[in-house]
Amino acid sequence: MTLGTLPQDFNPNSLPFNDPAQTRKVALITGGNSGLGFFTSLHLYTHGWEVYVAARNPTKANDAIKKIKSEAESRKSDLPAIAVFGELHFTQLDLSSLAKTKKGVDEFLSKESQLNLLINNAGVMALPIEITDDQLDIQIQTNHISPFYLTLNLLPLLKKSEFGPRIVFLSSLGHQITDNPKDFGKLYNYIPTFISGMLRYGNSKLANIQTAKALALRYPSILSVAVHPGVCCQTNLLSYWRNLPYIGYVASITVDTINHYIGISNEQGSYNTLFVALSPEVTTQENNGDYFTPVGFVTQPSAIASDPEKIQQTWDWTVTQLVDRGFLSPEEAQKLNGSKPSSSDSADTIPSSATESSASAPSSSSSATTV
Ligand SMILES: NC(=O)c1ccc[n+]([C@@H]2O[C@H](COP(=O)([O-])OP(=O)(O)OC[C@H]3O[C@@H](n4cnc5c(N)ncnc54)[C@H](OP(=O)(O)O)[C@@H]3O)[C@@H](O)[C@H]2O)c1
Repeated sequence: MTLGTLPQDFNPNSLPFNDPAQTRKVALITGGNSGLGFFTSLHLYTHGWEVYVAARNPTKANDAIKKIKSEAESRKSDLPAIAVFGELHFTQLDLSSLAKTKKGVDEFLSKESQLNLLINNAGVMALPIEITDDQLDIQIQTNHISPFYLTLNLLPLLKKSEFGPRIVFLSSLGHQITDNPKDFGKLYNYIPTFISGMLRYGNSKLANIQTAKALALRYPSILSVAVHPGVCCQTNLLSYWRNLPYIGYVASITVDTINHYIGISNEQGSYNTLFVALSPEVTTQENNGDYFTPVGFVTQPSAIASDPEKIQQTWDWTVTQLVDRGFLSPEEAQKLNGSKPSSSDSADTIPSSATESSASAPSSSSSATTV
């Protein structure tokens, strides 16, 4: 199968529109309030989806929802006649700690019993070292460990989906920037902050691709893929560097120059995600675990990202982090780690915490739930 279009030539209105009066389709997008996530939410909404904008800041998220609605309204005349808008909801989710992620999961599950599409979009880039409540660096926590935990908790809803459920991870070309660590918690605090931050970013984005591939093997009925969205320098991803005194000036000139030559708009940056989320051309049979570059090109990621042993190693490492912090019981971990990826979904195990209402860490004696 040949897929792939340049972002400049791609029209998101070529993707199927859902009629919400006929079929309810529900998506959750992390960081759906800003940058690429904003436009992904906008297009899902105009395509008839019910979208949960999962964000850490209620004010920013509710402002974004208002803007999405008015933007959608202003585009109505350009949309095909079959387009019927979906719905937009805010749900609070802070990925900077596992306890906060769990709280976000509980809040979402208290409101919703259906999920057809999960987009792990939220992320941070090249931040200086910041140790979270879970004693992890903020980048591996926000970009990989919390989204991994979120995804495990939402698998039962995705599995219940009456039509092909999908999980999308926003990875990056930056996944190539890695020294292939066994320990993804490695801080690299011995080299300049930006380089150190980029290595931690690269590792987290490598883990995103590996997680999509690991999920594809374990849960073949769910389409799990990773994307590079393109180079989109107008999002807030580099705002830490842009806002620094003096350095910010140099950083902004550098980033804007890169943008001038190879950058695409924030909206175009949402197209690859939208394509893998909505296109009928992307299938579990052909594409599960694939990595896509814009728009819709199936692309070979780095050798490390594709190596089955490394994929298993990253999976095991991540599961161990959750066990060590009391967010998975050893029994749940054993089921997740022990069952080798198979052609059936028999290894489907989720943290029992997903069904608990408390925001505290689940006890290690909590029993696994098999779905
Ligand atoms: N832009 C690019 O060129 C590019 C290239 C490759 C990959 N990506 C990936 O694309 C994704 C989206 O990035 P973007 O460029 O759109 O950047 P962005 O404008 O900075 O958006 C990032 C989103 O993540 C959210 N977020 C950050 N920390 C969070 C936390 N602890 N809990 C919950 N949400 C959190 C942000 O929330 P706030 O608004 O509250 O800060 C924001 O909504 C990222 O995963 C990034 O790695 C981007």
